[in-house]
Amino acid sequence: MAAQTEHADPAADIDRALTNLREGFSARFRAAATEQALRDENAKILGKKGELTAILKELGKAPADQRKKIGERVNALKQEVEAGFEACLRDLRKKARAAELDAPPFDLTLPERLPLADGGHRHPISLVREDVVNVFRQLGFAVFDGPEVEHEENNFGHLGYPPDHPATDMQDTFWTTGEAGNKLLLRSHTSNVQIRAMKSVKPPMAFIAPGTVYRRDDDATHSPMFHQIEAFLVDENVTLAHLKGVLAEFAERIYGPGTPVRLRPSYFPFVEPGAEVDIGCVFCKRADGTRAGCSLCKHTGWIEILGCGMIHPVVFENCGIDPERWSGFALGMGLERIALLRYGIPNIKLLFENDPRFLAQF
Ligand code: PHE
Repeated sequence: MAAQTEHADPAADIDRALTNLREGFSARFRAAATEQALRDENAKILGKKGELTAILKELGKAPADQRKKIGERVNALKQEVEAGFEACLRDLRKKARAAELDAPPFDLTLPERLPLADGGHRHPISLVREDVVNVFRQLGFAVFDGPEVEHEENNFGHLGYPPDHPATDMQDTFWTTGEAGNKLLLRSHTSNVQIRAMKSVKPPMAFIAPGTVYRRDDDATHSPMFHQIEAFLVDENVTLAHLKGVLAEFAERIYGPGTPVRLRPSYFPFVEPGAEVDIGCVFCKRADGTRAGCSLCKHTGWIEILGCGMIHPVVFENCGIDPERWSGFALGMGLERIALLRYGIPNIKLLFENDPRFLAQF
């Protein structure tokens, strides 16, 4: 207390403290490298326990007549500090923004979608279809397209199936909407395209019709949805020999040179005569061209691949084509069967499961 009484001059003390603070604060602010450091420094001066606040507390000790003046100085300094703080804050933010802009730009793009390891490829059915279509195109056939939802008469009636004939049971199909006399179904074969082509194009003609067909069939070698290719040719003086020539050419080009072909009589309402076609078994073929017989050909050395025949005169009549003048042949094959034989696939379901481990093998 003695010391205090000796130089007791609180007003001068406050004055000195204010001067010190005033001289020091901008350097302290400028030394702050981050916004947080600057805020901390500011709190040390202006905060509740800050230096300026502490000085203000001393004000009561100053002589009453000087308090107003000192108070004004404190306030002025407070404003100076606040302004200094704001200026430094702005500078820091400017600098941070500039650094952001100068930095390498942020990459907003998604990583590229890498192609599949092997680049992806077509389904075995597509591969087989393309090959078969190409063989027939080389032989002079053009593609004719037809609908999958078809009138009953184009799928059955005009092809010589009597109404409700048991032959339609072989191709028990899916019926959709439609009225009596104009019933609609999912086509059970691509032979509907024969009717559509012959009704709309004048002979001669040679067409192929690849497409999807539907039957109520479901086992290891049948699927309710499968693919066929129909081929048919109409001209003058077409004989069974032309049909057999086309079949022989087809077998050689798809299954390799020397593949034997045989016709077995069979019944389809829209051909006369009709036949089923076998090729020499591709699985048990020996180097000398003979067949040992195996489980896949049921030890016969032959495998059935398609149905065919000479177009029935009734079908020509139903399409407005004169059967006395025109003749022709037709054949139809299931693409799944061709693919199963070509690749040795044991179960048709594998073709529709879309398992990449299976599909990657073709
Ligand atoms: N449409 C017949 C079927 O799906 C196949 C066939 C076509 C038969 C052409 C003879 C002529 O079974």
